[in-house]
Amino acid sequence: MTECRICGGGVEEFLDLGRQPLSDAFLLPADVDTEFFYRLAVGRCEACTMVQLTEEVPRERMFHHDYPYYSSGSSVMREHFTKTALNFIDTELTGENPFFVEIGCNDGVLLRTIAESGIRHLGFEPSVGVAKVAQSRGVRVRTDFFEESTAREVRESDGPVDVIFSANTICHIPYLDSLLRGVDALLGPNGIFVWEDPYLGDIVEKTSFDQIYDEHFYLFSVRSVQAMAARFGFELVNVERFPVHGGEVRYTIARTGARQPSPAVAELLAEEDARDVVELETLKGFATSVARIRDELVALLRSLKAQGKTVAAYGATAKSATVTNYAGIGPDLISYVSDATPAKQHRLTPGVHIPVNPPEVFTASYPDYALLFAWNHAEEIMAKEQGFRDAGGQWILYVPEVRVV
Ligand code: SAH
Ligand code: TYD
Ligand code: ZN
Repeated sequence: MTECRICGGGVEEFLDLGRQPLSDAFLLPADVDTEFFYRLAVGRCEACTMVQLTEEVPRERMFHHDYPYYSSGSSVMREHFTKTALNFIDTELTGENPFFVEIGCNDGVLLRTIAESGIRHLGFEPSVGVAKVAQSRGVRVRTDFFEESTAREVRESDGPVDVIFSANTICHIPYLDSLLRGVDALLGPNGIFVWEDPYLGDIVEKTSFDQIYDEHFYLFSVRSVQAMAARFGFELVNVERFPVHGGEVRYTIARTGARQPSPAVAELLAEEDARDVVELETLKGFATSVARIRDELVALLRSLKAQGKTVAAYGATAKSATVTNYAGIGPDLISYVSDATPAKQHRLTPGVHIPVNPPEVFTASYPDYALLFAWNHAEEIMAKEQGFRDAGGQWILYVPEVRVV
């Protein structure tokens, strides 16, 4: 057993996804021989229930100058974050000279709206390439990891914060003890720390095991977040569910006793308990379903190949590194992956080395089938690529089940 990164309890492993590359390390052919691998396995803490990876990849290997994920690539996500920013402006940022901090602001998809409204703000973003895009949009960025020391420096120079927000980043941070001490140092007495990440309840329900990869160190549940907040002098005061990225929960924590918890916390906790989401038996059942989905997907792709069909994939997601490397799906089964991100194009996918092409290659000559790796953006992508269907193309999905649509 490994030790829980939050509480030191014993972590029992329930799923082994094998030897894996860095999920966002899209390679030039020359770099194939020096590719980095680690072992991807997930366990649950028997003391605090936190679901977490058993091996940690050093953060500088994942988040650096060439980090290729640009948050603004999806119109649905742009809208989601614009709405989120406007909502904070109307509710939490109405006092005198408010101050808003974001952890993992990426290309400024959310902070640009805060910046445009003239509100004092700061984004922490260690990946310099994406941070520069945020800066070009008028966002104030510090190109460092948020942790206790950097948070204390901001408190010294800029004073207390009203809202610390983070999306799809807190689950990337194994050192949550340092992060929460930083939040404690930086937040004003009535301030809130709000973050959203993929929800364990949705991952288990949909068998979306591709949410598990190097960057996603934690799979949060209400139960585990409540316990974690309490350890660091905070209280979980609200939870909200969102359909984005396959199902997320937005958690709001405040200093203990500072705010009245919303009934939504007890409600979602009760639902989680009724479904046994954090029970080891449930998680072992999830692991069994993962192996079945893998087998069905590989069988389908092999049968299409035997029939002489052409198959490409759509969306060079970080998630797809887990699927392709766990299932052994390489260029023999998928001829290329279409992706609109210039930083990923004309490179090879991590581990299995499928070429990444721009969407123009896809539209110029449609394959018979397209495996939708970016299944979380299904509606947006299927609408954009209606021509593929019109030409007789069919989508392959594997969440929550393997199926052709
Ligand atoms: N908030 C965006 C970006 C998510 S990707 C969205 O929801 O789309 C995760 C981002 O977190 C990356 O840009 C990565 O560089 C950044 N990150 C990782 N560790 C961090 C840390 N300790 N502090 C601040 N940002 C961090
Ligand atoms: P996403 O599912 O958001 O995240 P992750 O990499 O963490 O799994 O990644 C979506 C990928 O799909 C990203 O590389 C951009 C690409 N994409 C397109 O190529 N076209 C589109 O219309 C959309 C929405 C995404
Ligand atoms: Zn624990």
